[in-house]
Amino acid sequence: MPVKQVSGRVTLTHAKGSSVELLLYGATVISWKAGTITEPQSIERLFVSSKSAIDGSKPVRGGIPVIFPCFGPPSHPEHMKLAQHGFARNEVWKFDSIIMDNDEVVSVRLTLEPTAGITAKYDKPFHLAYIVALAEHQISTDLHVTNTSTSTAYPPDNLEFQALFHNYIRAPANDVLVFPLQSKSYFDKTEASEEARNKPKVETRAGVDVRQFTDSVYEDAGGKYEVTWPGGGVEITVRELKDVVVWNPQQVAGVKMGDMEDGGWERYVCVEPGHVRGFAKIEPGKTWIGQQVISVIHHERRINQ
Ligand code: BG6
Repeated sequence: MPVKQVSGRVTLTHAKGSSVELLLYGATVISWKAGTITEPQSIERLFVSSKSAIDGSKPVRGGIPVIFPCFGPPSHPEHMKLAQHGFARNEVWKFDSIIMDNDEVVSVRLTLEPTAGITAKYDKPFHLAYIVALAEHQISTDLHVTNTSTSTAYPPDNLEFQALFHNYIRAPANDVLVFPLQSKSYFDKTEASEEARNKPKVETRAGVDVRQFTDSVYEDAGGKYEVTWPGGGVEITVRELKDVVVWNPQQVAGVKMGDMEDGGWERYVCVEPGHVRGFAKIEPGKTWIGQQVISVIHHERRINQ
């Protein structure tokens, strides 16, 4: 069976050996295994901290949490009752359907609608659909956000939100380079003062490393990223997600995270495509689709810094 659903967990298995596991809790992908053309044996491509809760008591520390409708602490007036990174990553989604089940692609659709618990802190009408598709060497995640308001009032009852895929890419963090981000403008959230955090910097590095505590929000970042390390890598391409966040806490911030395994920061880099500078806006009745496709890189491609 290419799609199995057992106690809140959905497993996708591809005819060529790749696989995905996702939780209904947060629609969080917690495992993606795939090989390459030269090394076909499937290996784990995502990091999940061994100290992470995966029982639905807290967002998963790893995998691919879905961030909606706010990234980081809320800043939009309609989001003020929400926690950091919004609610999508800690609500139980509904298994909606199997979309494709053939030798090329296995894909499923989950949905999330307002519940009493959500409405108590966020009263905008919305519908979310999340499509996870698995190919031999690729996973794609698509978030469909619909503004279900039927209001015809003026000004329109728009839905304003941020959205992001919080990818924890399993990698030897100290050897990772992310590119091409050179000359892109970014906001450095590791800066101590608010003024410095809000002042854009310009990336000078051909390949961005995370050997130091890194929390950078690249604006209008180009939409195609390579995350490489000696002997491996992934490529991420996106649709509608104009920004990208590169985050690794290193020891200095990692030891302060209760659900981070010891040394976990050495085993992943977060490269997170999203719409997080400003807000995406949808009019009543309309749908926005944000997509990422993550592919394994088959041959070593590496640039010098
Ligand atoms: C990143 C943010 O996306 O997520 C960081 O840029 C944040 O600032 C990190 O620390 C982890 O967030 P959380 O809420 O999962 O601990």
